[in-house]
Parts: sequence; structure tokens; C-alpha cells
Amino acid sequence: MATLEENPLTEGLERLPVPPTTMTIFGGTGDLARRKLLPAIYNLAHEGALPEQFNLVGISRGDLSDDAYRELAREAIRAFSRRPPDGAVLDALLARVRHVRGSFDDPAVYERVEACASAWDEEAGMPLDRLYYLAIAPSFFPAVVALLGERGMHRRPGAEVRVVIEKPFGTSLAEARTLNRRVHEVLEERQVFRIDHYLGKETVQNLLALRFANGMLEPLWNRNYIDHVQITAAEDIGIGSRAGYYDRSGALRDLVQNHLLQLLTLLCMEPPIAFTADEIRDEKVKVLHAIEPPQPGHTVRAQYTAGVVGGERVPGYLEEEGVPPDSRTETYAALRLEVENWRWAGVPIYLRTGKRLARKVTEIAVRLKPVPHMGFLSEGAVGPQPNEIVMTIQPNEGVSISLAAKIPGTRMRIRPVKMEFLYGTAFMSQSPEAYERLLLDAMRGDATLFTRADEAEAQWAICDPVLQAWAEGADPLAHYPAGTAGPAAADALMPPGTRWRAI
Ligand code: BG6
Repeated sequence: MATLEENPLTEGLERLPVPPTTMTIFGGTGDLARRKLLPAIYNLAHEGALPEQFNLVGISRGDLSDDAYRELAREAIRAFSRRPPDGAVLDALLARVRHVRGSFDDPAVYERVEACASAWDEEAGMPLDRLYYLAIAPSFFPAVVALLGERGMHRRPGAEVRVVIEKPFGTSLAEARTLNRRVHEVLEERQVFRIDHYLGKETVQNLLALRFANGMLEPLWNRNYIDHVQITAAEDIGIGSRAGYYDRSGALRDLVQNHLLQLLTLLCMEPPIAFTADEIRDEKVKVLHAIEPPQPGHTVRAQYTAGVVGGERVPGYLEEEGVPPDSRTETYAALRLEVENWRWAGVPIYLRTGKRLARKVTEIAVRLKPVPHMGFLSEGAVGPQPNEIVMTIQPNEGVSISLAAKIPGTRMRIRPVKMEFLYGTAFMSQSPEAYERLLLDAMRGDATLFTRADEAEAQWAICDPVLQAWAEGADPLAHYPAGTAGPAAADALMPPGTRWRAI
């Protein structure tokens, strides 16, 4: 077997040219910065993928010196980096880090950020690109963008200014529209990077390779051969310390509106003419426009009660810290959708997501129609199943295709077997974290893996009517014990003979 060094497929991120950049994180000490952004930046530094000139400002309300912030960043990287940090790489990175104290609506903060960034420009002898990362509560997004505009920080002669906006992008269609309008008053769309971290996952991007770089699958990828699709994002974790956010959000807003609909569009889109940001996003938006919001009876919402997950007793949602005892927020959502276009009409697409389910698994399962005539049945065949193509996003990233095979022996007995490709064994390398890829793309100005303004609105247009119907009492809230596959009510979304895949 080839060793790691000999295997040409083991390279990590390619060294794409990235322009010199000063990055500013609004929310520099927050959960996202500590768990994801700082570790991602470290790993990019470790792989030599950051631009040669890279500086970072963290903004927070904390009374921190530059050194205290560097210490906080060091701890966060130690705790959350996917590889143990190398002292020299970490020191070199932290030497280029500074902290600015203040609240996001205080103009003085912007002055201080500008002063840091200008000093670095001067040192470099050129204007560096600026990347502003909004890792803050969404209620601050409009104010931050407006202040960047008022202070003239949204444009720079000779360099690019880009703004990354975290989710949630509004909590309804109306809010998303207002937010887009406010953002576009200051920035051009090409400067805006609405993040959906699922698009940074290697396996999600592989969906496009699987579909459009293989001649074998595309002829089957339509209503003539596909019986139905199941997209699952199951989590075993609860809501941790996020009750404040989660209780106002719920599963539909938190995961369906963004991550699950993104997976659906990549699965269903037409081949783009070129793999460029707008060609791809044009095709994705067309898919979203072809989806009618599901009617009552085609949606399920549920909340977890106490149960056992991974051998441990866990409380129910209503007992979680910070959750109001009469909360009706759904921690599970399932929908039956259809993409009403030439390729997909009549193919049910089932989406489901939930907290505190039996295990963590994110997958897309495409179930083909049964063969038209099963001549083997008379021979006492057992268990022939239609073929299924399962793309596992996480964990055990890979693709498996189920085929019917003959069980050895004199009789013609059939059972399903799997043909599998696993990332871990095929490429012998650890996939980079989604945020590593997305940060690099944002610095390079490549918006392919980010949500465009019209796309975010089209996603809300599907979810808004569901939220409204639920508010009026449609498809009442069901319950499921933690550690199970979800509520029994979800089975009723499917016709007899079709079942959810096991979680
Ligand atoms: C986030 C949600 O967007 O995605 C979380 O807000 C969820 O509630 C997370 O846990 C899941 O991401 P991943 O990458 O672990 O599947």
C-alpha cells in the first residue's frame, strides 16, 4: 500500500493564491470565533495556505489587552483545532493579532479597527484587502454594515473589502428582504459572503463531482428512475447553552431553511454551464423556485422529552437550562417536498432534522424505483430491494450504492450488498474543516460556496408558510424521547411501503 507521502491524493488544501488580507472578527471572543474561526485560521496557517501577509483584529466588549486576547486565541486553538498546534506556527500567527474593545454600534470601535488596519497597510507598503467577519447576533448585522459604510470602510482604492455574514440571515422572508436591502445600500453583492457552513464540507462539494463528473449517474437522475429522496441531518447533541437563540429559532429555521435546502438544491440542480459562482447559484435558485411550500399534512414538528443518548440519561427540552417551561419550539422537523420541474415532478423529497436523536448522521439517500419485473421471485428469493445511493456527509464520509447480489448457494437467492467509497480510505487524509475552505474562498473573493441574496430569500419563501401554518396550529407539536429516531408522526409523511432510513 502506498505510504502517505507517496499517495498523490493526500494533499490537503491546494495553495491557491490568496491576496494579503487584514481580517476583522466582530464577536472575536464569541463561541463561533473560539470554536471555529480561530482554529480554522490556525489550520490554514499550519498548511501554509494563508496569505503571506495576514493580520487579524478581534473585536469584543471585553476589557482585553492585545496579549490577553492572544492568550484567549491560543487557548481556543489548543482546545478546538483539528490538529495539535505547533508552537512556532501559532506564535507567528498570534504576533499578527490585535484586540479592539467596544460595542458594535460604537463608531469609536471602527476608528480603532481602521487605525490597526492602516498601520499594517503602512508596514506592508500597500493597501491590504479587508475581510470583515460578522460572527455576532443577527440584530447587529444592519448596524455594522451601515457603520462600515458611514465611515467609508466599505470600499478601498486598490484593494478589496469583503463582508462575511453568519447565519441566521433573518428569521423570516420579510426580515431577509429587509436585511438584503440594508446590506445592498452599502455593499455590492460581490462583496457579500452569506455563510452556510455545510457548503464548505468536502462531502457536500463532492455531490457536484459525483453528479457531474461521472457519466454513470446522471442518466438515472430524474423522475423516470428515482422513487424518492431522503435527506437527514440527525444530531445526538441537545441545545447546550444556546437556549436563548434556539428557543426563538427551532429546527426549521436553524437547519432546514439553510443546510437542508442547500443539500437539496445541489442534489437537484441542472448541470451548470460552468463552475462559476453565478452559474451554479443560478441553477440552485431555479430549484428553490420550483418548490411549493409544503401544505399542512406534509410537515411534522416535534420536541424531545427526557431519554437516554449514548448510554447517558439526558433531560427533555423543557428541562434544559434557559428554556421556558411552556415552550412550543420544535427540536425536530420533517417535511415532504416536491421539486416541480421537468426532471423531478412527482418525486417526493423528504427532509428531516432533529436534536437528541439516536446518533449524529447527515446523509442523502436516493432510492431508485424497483426493477420492472422480478423473475427471481419464483426461485424463493429473499429481500430484493431497489437500488439506493447514499451519500454520507458525516460521519464516515463517503458514498455507498446498494446492489442486489446472489447469495452463494444452489438457489437463486438475492440480498442487497453495498459498493462503498469512503473518504478516509480513498484519500488517506483528514478533510479540512468547512470554515477553513470558506475563509479562504472569502479572502479570494470566490462566492461559489456562499448563499446569494435571492437564494436566501427563496429559501425563506419555502419555510415562511410552514412557520405561519404552525403558528396557526397546523400539524400540532409531537414529542419523542431523546435517543430515538424521532416522532412516530414522521412515518405518516410517507406512503405505505416507504420507510425512513434507520438513524
Ligand atoms: C448549525 C446549527 O448551523 O449547524 C446547529 O445552528 C447545528 O444547531 C449545526 O448543531 C450542525 O452542524 P454540523 O456541521 O455539526 O452538522
